[in-house]
Amino acid sequence: MKPTGTPVPPEGPILPPEPDAAARPGRAVPAAGAAAAGKPPPVSIDDYEAMARERLPRSAFDYYAGGSGEEWTLRENREAFHRWVLRPRVLVDVSDRDMSTTVLGTSVAFPILVAPTAMQRMAEREGELATARACADAGTVMVLSTIASATIEEVAAAAPEAPRWFQLYVHRDRGLTQDLVERAVAAGYSGLVLTVDTPVLGIRDRDSRNRFASPPGVGLSNVGARFLPEVEPGDSGLAAYVRTMQDPSVTWEDVEWLRSLCDLPLVLKGVLTAEDAAIAAEVEVDGIAVSNHGGRQLDGTIAALDALPEVVDASGPCEVYLDGGVRRGSDVLKALALGANAVMVGRPVLWGLAAGGEDGVRRVLRLLAQDLDVAMAIAGCRTIGDISADLVRPAPR
Ligand code: GLV
Repeated sequence: MKPTGTPVPPEGPILPPEPDAAARPGRAVPAAGAAAAGKPPPVSIDDYEAMARERLPRSAFDYYAGGSGEEWTLRENREAFHRWVLRPRVLVDVSDRDMSTTVLGTSVAFPILVAPTAMQRMAEREGELATARACADAGTVMVLSTIASATIEEVAAAAPEAPRWFQLYVHRDRGLTQDLVERAVAAGYSGLVLTVDTPVLGIRDRDSRNRFASPPGVGLSNVGARFLPEVEPGDSGLAAYVRTMQDPSVTWEDVEWLRSLCDLPLVLKGVLTAEDAAIAAEVEVDGIAVSNHGGRQLDGTIAALDALPEVVDASGPCEVYLDGGVRRGSDVLKALALGANAVMVGRPVLWGLAAGGEDGVRRVLRLLAQDLDVAMAIAGCRTIGDISADLVRPAPR
């Protein structure tokens, strides 16, 4: 079988020079260098997305950007942040601020983790290796996808000192699944993130239209697939892979089985209801990621932020992370005020990667961190511990 379709993006950086970091305690300001380069520097995640759209082949951009069905849930993930407003406190001394926190006992510089996303080498040649190095620099946790285009071991070697977690898809071949877990343990990953919302892949019209296939040289490295299966028009290579290789029969009993394989803290990613959160707490998982898979699984599903309060209420001692729609520091503030320990970002990192490789990811993470820092200051929060439920209320109608 030959790889088909999707070309890789062209080589070479397209990011204009970065504004002088010292000149901007908060937001980016255009610098002389950027003006000379003829393009204003990207100052928001939307700017990075626009650059990625320009740079990436259509089917790669659509794969990353798209959702399932009518993409209603995809839009809702973003909209949900507008249904809450902030209640900032004033006259608080915020001259000395600290965004650091811990997740599963690991210190991070800010409560923004990097979500697992597949095949990052479609965005840029170094893919997951670039992301790992940028996360290490920024001081946050990268979650590596099972269906990454770099191996568990390569990513560990790219940033050996950095904390990283491994996202797991349970495969029909349980020997392969066990092997993935054991490789992650051996390579020093310190958390296991089991995705629980993907018994089959959601129907993604963009990918079906594009007959989504992996570009030459980009495959599912961890499972030894050099490229995705070739499919009929109207189908997606990734959907075919998931259909044939991944296990739709996974239940809570398999969660127990996974726990027996290793001592890593376990996070369930894809929980959206109090009912499932309560079971997760009962079986004593360590963390829950409230997520609808970036709007890529069941369209019509509740927005991640809307599901957060009920999951937090039912989650007992589990840590809770919010994944979906985070684009601004104020979004992080709202999610934390509603009870999340941290958020995860997926697409923003892909946009940074496509726009400028490792440097692009570093800039995206810095931009989000600076945005959070400014939001905290203006809201009267000196530390993450100062972010409480009083900071938000439903938006007036
Ligand atoms: C993979 O996890 C995807 O959502 O495509």
